[in-house]
Amino acid sequence: MTTSTTLSIRRFDARDTDAVVALWQDAFPEYRDLTRPQRNPHLSIANKLTTQPELFFVATLDGRIVGTVMGGYDGHRGWLYSLAVDTAVRRHGIGTRLVAHVEQALTERGCPKLNLQVLSAKTDIRAFYEALGYRADAVVSLGKRLGELADPVAAA
Ligand SMILES: CC(C)(COP(=O)(O)OP(=O)(O)OC[C@H]1O[C@@H](n2cnc3c(N)ncnc32)[C@H](O)[C@@H]1OP(=O)(O)O)[C@@H](O)C(=O)NCCC(=O)NCCS
Repeated sequence: MTTSTTLSIRRFDARDTDAVVALWQDAFPEYRDLTRPQRNPHLSIANKLTTQPELFFVATLDGRIVGTVMGGYDGHRGWLYSLAVDTAVRRHGIGTRLVAHVEQALTERGCPKLNLQVLSAKTDIRAFYEALGYRADAVVSLGKRLGELADPVAAA
Protein backbone atom coordinates (compact mmCIF):
# COMPACT_ATOMS: atom_id res chain seq x y z
CA MET A 1 0.00 0.00 0.00
CA THR A 2 1.51 3.34 -1.02
CA THR A 3 0.50 6.94 -0.45
CA SER A 4 -0.86 7.06 -4.03
CA THR A 5 -3.39 4.23 -3.52
CA THR A 6 -6.96 5.21 -2.73
CA LEU A 7 -9.11 3.35 -0.24
CA SER A 8 -12.89 3.53 -0.63
CA ILE A 9 -15.69 1.89 1.30
CA ARG A 10 -18.94 1.22 -0.50
CA ARG A 11 -21.96 -1.06 -0.37
CA PHE A 12 -21.48 -4.67 -1.53
CA ASP A 13 -22.67 -5.42 -5.07
CA ALA A 14 -23.52 -8.95 -6.27
CA ARG A 15 -20.71 -8.62 -8.84
CA ASP A 16 -18.26 -8.55 -5.89
CA THR A 17 -19.20 -12.12 -4.87
CA ASP A 18 -16.19 -14.02 -6.26
CA ALA A 19 -13.68 -11.54 -4.84
CA VAL A 20 -15.38 -11.52 -1.44
CA VAL A 21 -15.55 -15.34 -1.26
CA ALA A 22 -11.84 -15.56 -2.13
CA LEU A 23 -11.02 -13.00 0.57
CA TRP A 24 -13.08 -14.84 3.20
CA GLN A 25 -11.60 -18.23 2.32
CA ASP A 26 -8.18 -16.76 3.01
CA ALA A 27 -9.14 -14.74 6.11
CA PHE A 28 -11.43 -17.32 7.79
CA PRO A 29 -9.94 -20.86 7.84
CA GLU A 30 -13.33 -22.17 9.00
CA TYR A 31 -14.71 -21.47 5.49
CA ARG A 32 -12.36 -24.15 4.18
CA ASP A 33 -13.47 -26.71 6.83
CA LEU A 34 -15.70 -29.21 5.01
CA THR A 35 -16.90 -30.62 8.36
CA ARG A 36 -18.69 -27.31 9.05
CA PRO A 37 -21.31 -27.05 6.28
CA GLN A 38 -22.95 -24.11 8.07
CA ARG A 39 -19.89 -22.05 7.09
CA ASN A 40 -20.93 -21.41 3.51
CA PRO A 41 -19.78 -18.04 2.16
CA HIS A 42 -22.15 -18.08 -0.82
CA LEU A 43 -25.09 -18.75 1.52
CA SER A 44 -23.93 -15.97 3.90
CA ILE A 45 -23.91 -13.52 1.00
CA ALA A 46 -27.28 -14.69 -0.37
CA ASN A 47 -28.84 -14.37 3.10
CA LYS A 48 -27.41 -10.90 3.64
CA LEU A 49 -28.73 -9.74 0.28
CA THR A 50 -32.26 -10.45 1.58
CA THR A 51 -31.75 -8.85 5.04
CA GLN A 52 -30.42 -5.31 5.41
CA PRO A 53 -28.12 -5.55 2.34
CA GLU A 54 -27.37 -1.85 2.80
CA LEU A 55 -25.27 -2.83 5.85
CA PHE A 56 -22.85 -5.04 3.88
CA PHE A 57 -19.75 -3.06 2.93
CA VAL A 58 -16.55 -3.69 0.97
CA ALA A 59 -13.30 -1.74 1.08
CA THR A 60 -11.55 -1.27 -2.26
CA LEU A 61 -8.01 -0.18 -2.97
CA ASP A 62 -7.69 1.22 -6.47
CA GLY A 63 -10.82 -0.76 -7.35
CA ARG A 64 -9.64 -4.11 -5.89
CA ILE A 65 -11.61 -5.57 -2.99
CA VAL A 66 -9.40 -5.72 0.10
CA GLY A 67 -11.88 -5.82 2.97
CA THR A 68 -15.42 -6.57 4.09
CA VAL A 69 -17.74 -5.95 7.01
CA MET A 70 -21.40 -6.71 7.67
CA GLY A 71 -23.68 -4.99 10.14
CA GLY A 72 -27.17 -5.78 11.37
CA TYR A 73 -29.67 -3.95 13.57
CA ASP A 74 -32.71 -5.67 15.06
CA GLY A 75 -34.23 -2.61 16.72
CA HIS A 76 -32.54 -3.32 20.06
CA ARG A 77 -28.88 -4.09 19.39
CA GLY A 78 -26.54 -3.89 16.46
CA TRP A 79 -24.20 -6.68 15.40
CA LEU A 80 -20.99 -6.72 13.42
CA TYR A 81 -19.93 -9.72 11.34
CA SER A 82 -17.49 -10.80 8.64
CA LEU A 83 -14.82 -8.19 9.24
CA ALA A 84 -11.87 -9.23 7.06
CA VAL A 85 -8.89 -7.51 5.45
CA ASP A 86 -6.63 -8.97 2.76
CA THR A 87 -3.44 -10.28 4.43
CA ALA A 88 -1.30 -8.25 1.98
CA VAL A 89 -2.63 -4.93 3.31
CA ARG A 90 -3.18 -5.55 7.02
CA ARG A 91 -1.95 -3.09 9.68
CA HIS A 92 -2.65 -0.09 7.43
CA GLY A 93 -5.84 0.95 9.21
CA ILE A 94 -8.32 -0.66 6.78
CA GLY A 95 -9.95 -2.82 9.48
CA THR A 96 -10.31 0.28 11.66
CA ARG A 97 -11.91 2.20 8.77
CA LEU A 98 -14.38 -0.63 8.10
CA VAL A 99 -15.43 -0.82 11.77
CA ALA A 100 -15.87 2.98 11.89
CA HIS A 101 -17.97 2.82 8.72
CA VAL A 102 -20.39 0.22 10.05
CA GLU A 103 -20.52 1.97 13.45
CA GLN A 104 -21.55 5.17 11.66
CA ALA A 105 -24.21 3.40 9.59
CA LEU A 106 -25.70 1.81 12.72
CA THR A 107 -25.53 5.05 14.71
CA GLU A 108 -27.49 6.78 11.94
CA ARG A 109 -30.22 4.14 12.41
CA GLY A 110 -30.42 4.90 16.14
CA CYS A 111 -28.60 1.76 17.25
CA PRO A 112 -27.47 2.27 20.87
CA LYS A 113 -24.98 -0.62 21.23
CA LEU A 114 -22.94 -2.76 18.88
CA ASN A 115 -22.11 -6.36 19.77
CA LEU A 116 -19.73 -8.79 18.15
CA GLN A 117 -18.31 -12.22 18.84
CA VAL A 118 -14.71 -13.34 18.44
CA LEU A 119 -13.68 -17.00 18.57
CA SER A 120 -11.94 -17.39 21.93
CA ALA A 121 -8.81 -18.81 20.27
CA LYS A 122 -8.31 -15.56 18.30
CA THR A 123 -6.53 -13.55 21.01
CA ASP A 124 -4.87 -11.25 18.46
CA ILE A 125 -8.25 -10.26 17.03
CA ARG A 126 -9.45 -9.42 20.52
CA ALA A 127 -6.48 -7.02 20.80
CA PHE A 128 -7.63 -5.36 17.57
CA TYR A 129 -11.15 -4.74 18.90
CA GLU A 130 -9.89 -3.62 22.30
CA ALA A 131 -7.74 -1.02 20.55
CA LEU A 132 -11.02 0.29 19.06
CA GLY A 133 -12.74 0.55 22.45
CA TYR A 134 -14.62 -2.77 22.54
CA ARG A 135 -14.75 -4.53 25.90
CA ALA A 136 -15.84 -8.02 26.96
CA ASP A 137 -19.38 -7.97 28.36
CA ALA A 138 -20.10 -9.99 31.50
CA VAL A 139 -22.26 -12.45 29.57
CA VAL A 140 -22.05 -15.99 28.29
CA SER A 141 -22.81 -16.25 24.60
CA LEU A 142 -25.42 -18.95 23.89
CA GLY A 143 -26.49 -20.13 20.49
CA LYS A 144 -28.79 -22.64 18.86
CA ARG A 145 -28.80 -23.67 15.25
CA LEU A 146 -32.20 -23.58 13.53
CA GLY A 147 -33.57 -25.35 10.46
CA GLU A 148 -31.84 -28.15 8.54
CA LEU A 149 -28.58 -27.91 10.48
CA ALA A 150 -30.20 -27.88 13.95
CA ASP A 151 -28.63 -30.15 16.57
CA PRO A 152 -30.96 -32.78 18.03
CA VAL A 153 -32.37 -31.71 21.43
CA ALA A 154 -32.23 -34.43 24.11
CA ALA A 155 -35.65 -35.38 25.49
CA ALA A 156 -36.27 -34.23 29.11
C1 LIG B 1 -8.90 -8.18 12.29
C2 LIG B 1 -8.48 -7.55 10.96
C3 LIG B 1 -9.76 -7.24 10.17
C4 LIG B 1 -7.70 -6.26 11.25
O1 LIG B 1 -7.51 -5.56 10.03
P1 LIG B 1 -6.31 -4.49 9.83
O2 LIG B 1 -6.62 -3.68 8.63
O3 LIG B 1 -5.00 -5.19 9.84
O4 LIG B 1 -6.44 -3.63 11.18
P2 LIG B 1 -5.85 -2.16 11.46
O5 LIG B 1 -4.67 -1.88 10.58
O6 LIG B 1 -6.97 -1.20 11.39
O7 LIG B 1 -5.37 -2.32 12.99
C5 LIG B 1 -5.58 -1.27 13.96
C6 LIG B 1 -4.91 -1.64 15.26
O8 LIG B 1 -5.50 -2.83 15.81
C7 LIG B 1 -4.47 -3.60 16.47
N1 LIG B 1 -4.27 -4.86 15.73
C8 LIG B 1 -4.64 -5.16 14.47
N2 LIG B 1 -4.30 -6.43 14.14
C9 LIG B 1 -3.71 -6.93 15.25
C10 LIG B 1 -3.14 -8.19 15.54
N3 LIG B 1 -3.13 -9.20 14.63
N4 LIG B 1 -2.61 -8.37 16.78
C11 LIG B 1 -2.63 -7.38 17.69
N5 LIG B 1 -3.15 -6.14 17.47
C12 LIG B 1 -3.68 -5.94 16.27
C13 LIG B 1 -3.21 -2.74 16.44
O9 LIG B 1 -3.24 -1.91 17.59
C14 LIG B 1 -3.43 -1.93 15.16
O10 LIG B 1 -2.72 -0.73 15.15
P3 LIG B 1 -1.14 -0.72 14.67
O11 LIG B 1 -1.06 -1.45 13.36
O12 LIG B 1 -0.84 0.75 14.55
O13 LIG B 1 -0.37 -1.42 15.75
C15 LIG B 1 -7.57 -8.51 10.14
O14 LIG B 1 -6.49 -8.92 10.97
C16 LIG B 1 -8.26 -9.75 9.61
O15 LIG B 1 -8.86 -9.73 8.54
N6 LIG B 1 -8.16 -10.89 10.33
C17 LIG B 1 -8.73 -12.18 9.87
C18 LIG B 1 -10.23 -12.21 9.89
C19 LIG B 1 -10.80 -12.13 11.30
O16 LIG B 1 -10.47 -12.92 12.17
N7 LIG B 1 -11.72 -11.17 11.49
C20 LIG B 1 -12.37 -10.90 12.76
C21 LIG B 1 -13.57 -11.74 12.92
S1 LIG B 1 -14.36 -11.43 14.51
